[in-house]
Amino acid sequence: MHSVSRQISCSGKKIGLVPTMGYLHEGHLSLIKKSKELCDITVVSIFVNPTQFAPTEDFEKYPRDIEHDNKLLKEYNVDYVFIPSLEEIYPSGYQSYVYVNEISKKFEGEFRPAHFKGVTTVVSILFNCVNPDLAFFGQKDAQQAAVIKQMVSDLKYDIEIVVCPIVRERDGLAMSSRNVYLSPEERTKALTLHKAILYARKLIEGKEMDPQKVIGNMKVIIGEEKSIKLDYVGIVNTYGFREADLIEEGNEYYILVAARVGNTRLIDNELVRLQ
Ligand code: PAF
Repeated sequence: MHSVSRQISCSGKKIGLVPTMGYLHEGHLSLIKKSKELCDITVVSIFVNPTQFAPTEDFEKYPRDIEHDNKLLKEYNVDYVFIPSLEEIYPSGYQSYVYVNEISKKFEGEFRPAHFKGVTTVVSILFNCVNPDLAFFGQKDAQQAAVIKQMVSDLKYDIEIVVCPIVRERDGLAMSSRNVYLSPEERTKALTLHKAILYARKLIEGKEMDPQKVIGNMKVIIGEEKSIKLDYVGIVNTYGFREADLIEEGNEYYILVAARVGNTRLIDNELVRLQ
């Protein structure tokens, strides 16, 4: 990968990296489309990264279908697919980790304490292997994108991070490889999360400027679906992921939600811009 990327860079071409854990869906394909639009060469990496899963989480059963992924990537004319082995990324004796301090601790970080350390470590390894000019991440994992932007700024990576909008199923469910875990009943219940976010957006657009009131309303909607176990709801500034004390015109916010539906943990968010 190093020598391929060196050759491409020497020829003056721009490399776009789409890091994934495979089991590709429309959300990933939207990142690939964006990379192909903005870059000369698109590299998609597929690596299910063990260090971002806690021992109690779903690393072993995380969905994998490399044949289907490769077929899709061929259809999309992706230039390179980078599928490193576990031993290549973390050879025996591996010792180095990248941790972005503050922003990794809140929201997802509270419920998945080692998660972002694993993400920033592997993304930094992938950046070093592929040496991209641009890298593409989904807004679905908005906090992950914010953590990576902070890492890129702190560690002076010369890489532009592009965050692409969430892709949703027709009924509003945010696309995720983990949606395959949901039974048909759970899938219907999961829609409550998006319903709560949309209601929150409506309140904010109607000039409800108190985040706590908006959050209170979201909790009521989600609370009506007894089988959903809420982890958090929040309203944060898009830059830096700081919790909003007051919603102000001219600013951008993410309305966040994370919850468990049955055994499946889902996250979702919506971007609001107040003019
Ligand atoms: O978003 C993901 O799929 C993963 O967290 C990433 C960025 C590929 C790192 O393993």
